Parts: sequence; structure tokens; C-alpha cells
Amino acid sequence: MTTTPLNVEALRKDFPLLARTVHDRPIVYLDSASSALQPRAVIDAMARYYETTHANVHRGVYATAEEATHLYEQARVVVGRFIGAPAPADEIVFTKNTTESINLVAHTWARTNLKAGDHILLTEMEHHANIVPWLMLAEDVGLELRYIPVDGEGRLDLSDLATLMAGVKLVGVSAMSNVLGTINPIAEIAGVAHSAGAVVLVDGAQLVPHAPVDVTTLGADFLAFSGHKMMGPTGIGVLWARRELLNAMPPFLGGGGMILDVKLDSFRPAPPPGRFEAGTPPIAEAVGLSTAVDYLSDIGLDRIRAHELDLTNYALARLDEKLGSDCRIFGPPAGADRGGVMSLAYRDVHAHDLAQVLDQFGVCVRPGHHCAKPLMRKLGVQATARASLSLFSDEHDIEVLIEGLVEAGRLFG
Ligand code: ALA
Repeated sequence: MTTTPLNVEALRKDFPLLARTVHDRPIVYLDSASSALQPRAVIDAMARYYETTHANVHRGVYATAEEATHLYEQARVVVGRFIGAPAPADEIVFTKNTTESINLVAHTWARTNLKAGDHILLTEMEHHANIVPWLMLAEDVGLELRYIPVDGEGRLDLSDLATLMAGVKLVGVSAMSNVLGTINPIAEIAGVAHSAGAVVLVDGAQLVPHAPVDVTTLGADFLAFSGHKMMGPTGIGVLWARRELLNAMPPFLGGGGMILDVKLDSFRPAPPPGRFEAGTPPIAEAVGLSTAVDYLSDIGLDRIRAHELDLTNYALARLDEKLGSDCRIFGPPAGADRGGVMSLAYRDVHAHDLAQVLDQFGVCVRPGHHCAKPLMRKLGVQATARASLSLFSDEHDIEVLIEGLVEAGRLFG
């Protein structure tokens, strides 16, 4: 992949939060996998919306209400085009976050289409958001869950995929692990799933912000992702689903905005996507998310991916060079199937101690189980410290990370 390199120094100026210091040190933000920072354009667009336009959507007929409705519906189209949705205006549902998007599918599509004895196939590297809703449903309906195992290098072991697929009606798989950084071969898995008559739900929370994603190429039937991990605001997530699937799904939450008619003893639901958006939706958040999508698209997802791939390779090499076997990094070695997420253990220093020492250097990482306890058990650790990259990350960030780790080793090692 040959792309024009990012001008990271210039891009960093777009992020007001990067200008602050913590503990008298410039902030080194390595926690975008938890939540990304917002560029000024997103913050301004949301402020402008509140200052000039705010009104509820799909209700009033006055000028600002019409404008707000237009901005909200336009955001749907912008987000849909970003992921190559064939019918962006009809197939994008705004939710609260990836978690709600997955729960929506569990409560609607799955409850309607699955029966006792059916199987759901997940992977051992899923976030709790793509395990717990299925465990809850399995208990209610009598479903059985199976898991694609993770191999010693942190990749999915697909050698038994055809066998695992027997009786499976839905496959739920993360496009990129939030712990290991592994970028999974979704198209390959989807091919096998579709041949077996299963639908494929992709958790795109970690990949969508960092690499070009096209739902058709991916072979997904459902794609869930979050606004705040892609430089938009918190409080908005996305569910994309194939139009035929959405049309056949019953509502999720009931209330205003999701109906055609209500009587005292019955109601008729609205068509999608409104059917799945009960109550006042996240309007300002949709404006912010749409601006974030424009921001990322203007830079180019292929360039962002190339930058983060180069920097991941640099970081893995530098960590090895400076810290050697004292530093264990989980997940595949440097390469094309690895995103910019690095979960690490340093000597036997607890991840929370590592994170606290790193904080003294201005470095923001996430310690803990990363909402992936089954995977942590498989890795044989309770917690890791996770550094995750963004388009504004640079080699200096990695050097400060290493400086902090060395100090943690000195204090606790
Ligand atoms: N899912 C987010 C993470 O991995 C919160 O940190």
C-alpha cells in the first residue's frame, strides 16, 4: 500500500486536548481504543448546532426543526456512505454505542429468528459486548454458544471452522480485537457462514475508525460501531444492517418516533430506521459524528491505516529493542493483520501500577481486563496495560511510553 504519509505534526494541532499538560508533562494520549479524542471541527460543529439550530427532529415544522431534521438524516447518509452501505438513508440506525447496537440485534433479529437448540458462533477474543447479550439470550431461548479459539499468536484458529459452523444461525465476530490488535479475516469467515446459512454480525468498534471498511467487501449482515471511538462524541453508536433484515425485524425499544399509529390496544411500527429509534435521538451527537466521518474521510482511511501500521511496527520493534523479554506484548507480531493496539505486561509489575507510573509521564493507557475476561483467562493474565494508537500518534509517544515503563520497572520490578 503506497500512500502519502500523514503530516502528524500538523494534524496534532487539530486536537485541543493534546495541547494540555498532565503532571507538568505534555499529554501522550495512547488510549484511543477506549475513546478517541475529538478534533476541533467536531467540537465546533456540535457547538454551532446548539447555538444556531437545535430543535427536536421529525416533529416540528418551523425552520430550525426542519434544519435539525435535515442535519440528522444527512448524518445517516454520511455515516452509511463511509462504510459502503448500499442504501445509506435506510440502513443506518443510530443507537447509543456498539453495545446497544449488538443488544438490538439480539433482542430483535435473534429473538425472532432463533429457537431452542440453535447455535451462535462467537470467538474467544470478543469484547463482553459481543458475549453477554448472547449469553442472556441463550439462557432465555435455549441457544447454544460456541467459540472460535484463539491460537498462540493471538489469531483466530479457523482450522475447524466448517465443523464449528454446524447448526449455527448467527456468527458474531470482532473485526479487530480490542486487546490483541488482531485484524480478523472477516470475509473468509463470512463466506463459510453464509454457505452454512448463518448471518454475520461484525463488531467494528475497533476497526471502523482505523482502516477502510466496506460492508459488502466484508461480507457482513450487521455491523456495529461507536461514534466516540472514531473522533465523534460519546452517546451515539451505529448499527448497519442489510435492508431486508432490518425490514423484517420487530422494534427494539417502544415509544415516540418509532410508530406509524398507536391505539389503546395496539400499535403499528414505523419502517426502519425510525422503527429502532424510540424517543428523542442523539441529534447533536449525529452532527458531531457526521463531522468526524468527514474529518477522517478527508484525511483518508488508507493513509490513517498506513500510518498506524508503520507506527505499530515501529513500537513493537522499539519495545523489543529497549525492553527485550521483560516486556511481553500480546497479539500477533508486526504485520498487516495487526492494528495499533498493544496490550503489554512488563516484568511482573501489575498493569495498574504500570498505568499509574505512566500517568506521571503524561501517558494515558488503559489497565485492566479490557472487557474481555474470557480472553484474559486464555492469555493467563488478569490484566494488561494497553497502549493504543491514533492518527496523531508518533514515534515520540512511543519513546515516552518506553521511558515510563523503564521507570515502572525501576520502582516495582
Ligand atoms: N471497548 C473499549 C475498550 O476496549 C471501552 O477500552
